[in-house]
Amino acid sequence: MPEQTADKRSLRRSLNYLNWLYNPFQTLDVPAIYDMLSTSSPTEHALYLNLGYWPEATDLDQASVALATLVGEQADMQPGDQVLDCGFGFADQDILWAQTLKPERIIGLNITRSQVNVARRRVAELGLDQQIDLRYGSATDMPLANESVDKVVAMECAFHFNTREQFFREAWRVLRPGGRLVTADIIPMPTVSGLSGRLKQRLSWGLVAGKFAVPSENAYTRPTYHAKLAMVGFTSIRVDSIRDQVYAPLHQFLAQHLPILRRLHPLVRLPARFTLLFDAASVYGGLDYVLATAVKPKISSSS
Ligand SMILES: C[S@@+](CC[C@H](N)C(=O)[O-])C[C@H]1O[C@@H](n2cnc3c(N)ncnc32)[C@H](O)[C@@H]1O
Repeated sequence: MPEQTADKRSLRRSLNYLNWLYNPFQTLDVPAIYDMLSTSSPTEHALYLNLGYWPEATDLDQASVALATLVGEQADMQPGDQVLDCGFGFADQDILWAQTLKPERIIGLNITRSQVNVARRRVAELGLDQQIDLRYGSATDMPLANESVDKVVAMECAFHFNTREQFFREAWRVLRPGGRLVTADIIPMPTVSGLSGRLKQRLSWGLVAGKFAVPSENAYTRPTYHAKLAMVGFTSIRVDSIRDQVYAPLHQFLAQHLPILRRLHPLVRLPARFTLLFDAASVYGGLDYVLATAVKPKISSSS
């Protein structure tokens, strides 16, 4: 019976959440995590899966749109551009860019099939499927020809990539000379002095890295991020921390709008409420949030 099937699905989902949240030895991979999270985005009007950019935002939807706008502007996205969006989630940012910045084409890559299916449906319903081409595939092995796109972007997802460095090499390969790479990304903070501060930092990074399947190879701070981009050949590199415009305002917003947590699975609400008992500096002490931009020079040093 369909009801029994729905019950079974809901039970399986709850068991997956229990395993993910409370079993320290769980080994869910990235697609399994996002399959489990499904479409339960905490935003009200869209299905964004990011923490948002908060200088002017007054709610989660606005903050997510602000982050997408920032990434699109930093990429200098414009009509005529071929854009590659890696880790597109449910493609909200692609829909936004198609409607506002109007690049000629956006190709999306995502390794979570369930998201690809939902996102394709949403894009088709808006009549944007000629402009937005969503594909199942990995940012670390792009099914694209060399020098075929003008912009590569990855919004709050490169920390997942196995590895981020391999993604940088692939981005370099598919970008045309003069093309631009932009990431909004989560990395560890430089280690502070003092045992208790260091322990807090380790706990904060370790929890995020463990729960969100972040490869240990991706755990490096801003100077190394910069150096890895430079090693691939990128120039005009900037790796700026925007953490003050992300974590603390998000934390404050959630603490003041607890009913929003009802949009999350009941098993996620409890740890979410728990983190709100602490201040943002403790919860996010180990996490930096960076906006990185880099350019593939017109005359490549490898040619
Ligand atoms: C935190 S979500 C961000 C989604 C979206 N960019 C947003 O801001 O709402 C991370 C996304 O990265 C995708 N992802 C993780 N590893 C990937 C990989 N190697 N290649 C492509 N997508 C990947 C996940 O499936 C998920 O859609």
